Amino acid sequence: MNIILLGPPGAGKGTQSAGLVERHGMRQLSTGDMLRAAVKAGTPVGLRAKEVMERGELVSDEIVSDLIDAELAAMAPETGAIFDGYPRTVAQAEALDAILAKHGRKLDHVIELAVDEDALVARITGRFSCANCGALYHDTAHPPATPGVCDVCGGTEFKRRPDDNEETVRMRMQEYRAKTAPILPFYEARGIVSRVDGMGSIEAVAQAIDAILRG
Ligand code: AP5
Repeated sequence: MNIILLGPPGAGKGTQSAGLVERHGMRQLSTGDMLRAAVKAGTPVGLRAKEVMERGELVSDEIVSDLIDAELAAMAPETGAIFDGYPRTVAQAEALDAILAKHGRKLDHVIELAVDEDALVARITGRFSCANCGALYHDTAHPPATPGVCDVCGGTEFKRRPDDNEETVRMRMQEYRAKTAPILPFYEARGIVSRVDGMGSIEAVAQAIDAILRG
């Protein structure tokens, strides 16, 4: 099964992807994570993306579509893909169609996480992750069970993203409204869009997503 998780910054795409990987053995394909890894490694893609990401704007369609194509090429055909943060423009949605066809895959669901944007700033500015394994946390909504110790790997170093400040978050939301929300009609025309209330608890959102996947 191949699915897209769609929603503005902080909607819970990364959180829900991690749950789907654990519950269903799917693979998370997050263009944001891929770009952050490229920035950290100082690759040519990373050097081009760094400042664009710090401003909260979108990097070029070609860069992210190439990243997705390369990941799918390396994946076993039976492993399901969760597209997290991709596609983000109509041009990327069109590119994804071609990439999926090339790899003999088809899109089963587009799941929109519907959220109250005002609450998202608090979600994002409270977000941190394990520096060792990347597990996601939130200062109040989802702290580690033992303060200062990662639930997943026991790591004790945590980090925050440089684009998780209020000014950049507002720009990321503006980009979402202007460029990403318009891809919904593209998929609605195919009858594969489902909407989930992303303001519920992490567990409630996960249950709603699983109900969609069960059909
Ligand atoms: P990206 O990394 O994709 O960031 P984003 O879309 O802005 O999404 P986030 O990762 O901020 O949010 P999320 O929905 O994953 O929320 P999360 O689960 O972490 O992109 C970053 C940048 O890279 C972009 O700005 C752009 O520059 C570039 N980029 C990436 N892809 C691109 C593309 N395709 N094209 C062009 N440019 C691209 O949750 C947030 C917090 O809330 C966490 O702390 C979590 O614990 C908490 N939380 C989650 N769910 C709940 C809940 N139900 N209740 C309470 N708290 C919750």
